[in-house]
Amino acid sequence: MNDPSSPMAHSRRLRMLNETGPDTDMGKLLRRFWQPIALANSVEPGKSRAVRILSEDLTLYRGASGKPYLVGGRCPHRLTRLHTGWVQGEEVRCVYHGWKFAASGQCTEAPAEGAGTACKIRIASYPVREYAGLFFAWLGGGEAPEFDLPRKPVLEREGGLVIAREQPWPCNWFHQVENSLDAVHVSFVHHAGKAGPFGQAITGAIPRLAYEETDSGIRQTATRSETNVRVSDWTFPNNNHIIIPALPGDPWVDVVVYMSPIDDGNTNRFLIYSMPAGNPEAHARFREHYRMYGGYNPVDHHDDLFNKGVYPEEPILQLTGAQDYVATLGQGVFADRDGERLGKSDAGVVFLRRLFWREMDLVREGKPTKQWRRLDHSVELPKPKSVAAE
Ligand code: FES
Ligand SMILES: [Fe+2]
Repeated sequence: MNDPSSPMAHSRRLRMLNETGPDTDMGKLLRRFWQPIALANSVEPGKSRAVRILSEDLTLYRGASGKPYLVGGRCPHRLTRLHTGWVQGEEVRCVYHGWKFAASGQCTEAPAEGAGTACKIRIASYPVREYAGLFFAWLGGGEAPEFDLPRKPVLEREGGLVIAREQPWPCNWFHQVENSLDAVHVSFVHHAGKAGPFGQAITGAIPRLAYEETDSGIRQTATRSETNVRVSDWTFPNNNHIIIPALPGDPWVDVVVYMSPIDDGNTNRFLIYSMPAGNPEAHARFREHYRMYGGYNPVDHHDDLFNKGVYPEEPILQLTGAQDYVATLGQGVFADRDGERLGKSDAGVVFLRRLFWREMDLVREGKPTKQWRRLDHSVELPKPKSVAAE
C-alpha cells in the first residue's frame, strides 16, 4: 500500500499514468467519465458482442427493442463468454448451460439448477448511451452522472453530417493523449511521407507554445507566426478536438478523437467526423471519400510504415493517422519514461501529466476531483493573432 503522505518515486508516478484497471488510481479516475466503447452500428437488435474497455471484458448487446445494454463479460456459472450466447427479448442467455441474465445483471433463469438459484446470482451491469455513432458507457459504479460531458454542439447540428470510426492501436492510451498536447510534433510527424493539404496548412515552422487549464481541460495555443495561431481545446481526460481541411473547396471537418483504453497495452481510437449542414453535395463527397478510404488502420500496415517507409497517399483519413501511429507506436507499447529527456517543446506533456497526477492524488486521498464542464464551442481555425486572442 502506498502511504498517501509520502512522495512517490517519480518512476512509479510515471507508470501510474499508464494503468487502467479498476483497482488503479488512473483506472478509478477514468471511470468517473462516460467512455466510448464501440461503434453504434457494430451491434444489431437481438445481437451481442464482446467489448474490452479499461481492462474489463464485457458483453454489449441490443435487446429485441434495439435498446443497448452492457453487462459482465463472463457467465458466473462456469465462466464462459456471455456474448457467445443468445439475446432473448431484452435479456441474454449463456451458450453453455443456459443461464439467463437481465440488463440489470440479475440472473433470471438457471434451467438445470434447483429453484432459488437464479435469484442469488448477479453480474455487473453498466449504463450505456448511444451518441454520435458511438456507444458510451459509465463504468464508475453507483449512479451515473447525466450524459453531458461528451456532448458537443458540432455533433448535434440539425442536418449535419456525423460519421464515427474506430481504430484499435496496440499501445498505451497515454502516448496518444500526450501526442494531442504536443503541438511541435505537427511540424515534423505530419511532414513524414507526403505532407498533403493538412501539412501544407500548418507549415513546418516550430510553434511558440502556451497552455492553460480550462473548465473542460487544457487550451493549447500554438503560434507559428503572427498570422498563424492555432488554438485548440483538449477535453479531460481523453478527448481531442481538431478541425481539418477535408476535400478541396468543401467545408472544413471537425474531428473529435477519443483515445479510449481497451487495456494498458491497447487503445481504441474513436474518431467522429462532423461537417456542417447546408451542403448536401459536400456531404455526399465526404461520405464517398470515407467509404473508399475510411477502413484504413495503420496497424494493418505496420511493416510498410516502420520498415519500408511506405506511407499511404490519402491525406486526411489515412496519412495523418499513419504518421501519428509511427510516432506513438515508435515509443513502444509502454515507454520507459524514466529515460526521456524532456525539453521546452514538451510543455504540454508536462502540463498534462501534472493535471493527471493532481486528479489521481485526489482520487487516492478520497477527496473530490475537479468537476469538469463540457466544451461548448468548436476549435478555432488558424488565424491572425489579434483575432485569435479575442
Ligand atoms: S457457463 Fe454459463 S450457464 Fe454454464
Ligand atoms: Fe498528429
